[in-house]
Amino acid sequence: MKIIVAITGASGVVLGKGFLDAVKGKHETHLIISEAAKKVMKYELEKADEIGKLADYRYKEDDLEARIASSSCRIDAMVIIPCSMKTLSAIANGFSDNLITRSAENILKLGKKIVVVPRDTPLTLAAIENMKKLKLAGAVIMPPNMAYYYKPETVDDVTNFFVGKVLDVLEIEHNMYKKWKGK
Ligand SMILES: Cc1cc2nc3c(=O)[nH]c(=O)nc-3n(C[C@H](O)[C@H](O)[C@H](O)COP(=O)(O)O)c2cc1C
Repeated sequence: MKIIVAITGASGVVLGKGFLDAVKGKHETHLIISEAAKKVMKYELEKADEIGKLADYRYKEDDLEARIASSSCRIDAMVIIPCSMKTLSAIANGFSDNLITRSAENILKLGKKIVVVPRDTPLTLAAIENMKKLKLAGAVIMPPNMAYYYKPETVDDVTNFFVGKVLDVLEIEHNMYKKWKGK
């Protein structure tokens, strides 16, 4: 599978890293990190500079001449993890002024799979409306919500569970968390 992975400037950049880790060597990844995300990474990641090594291809946020800026580029899915309220708004309202929002526009135009992981709390009405718009446009909206029933003990447990949920949406097999087998 060819997947565009965008990491934007919301808290939870570790989820983007976790996703890249999970698909490394198994799926082709095209990574875009926003300038704001680079700032957040300084607070949230140990080796922020090394995240790029997890992807097959890397692009600058402002590189609107990149091949993935065109809908003619064959891409199967896009994951925006985490997604800031700014990027959420831009995509929901068709404001495609960078490679992240332009790529998302292409994915939506073509009706391909797009997973958006919007992170903020509490949410403004604008954010809720933007999520609704994207849902109606065909995106899968996955706020990085926790679950407790599997008894997470570490931050990694929480990250892996959520990344596993994203992989489920993309129909990618994984062992990130123990699937519920029924009673
Ligand atoms: C440490 C830090 C944490 C942030 N966390 C969030 C967040 O969780 N959600 C959000 O929407 N914005 C958050 N922001 C603000 C965004 O980074 C800001 O709105 C930025 O313009 C987003 O740009 P981007 O969408 O191009 O990445 C945070 C900023 C900083 C510095």
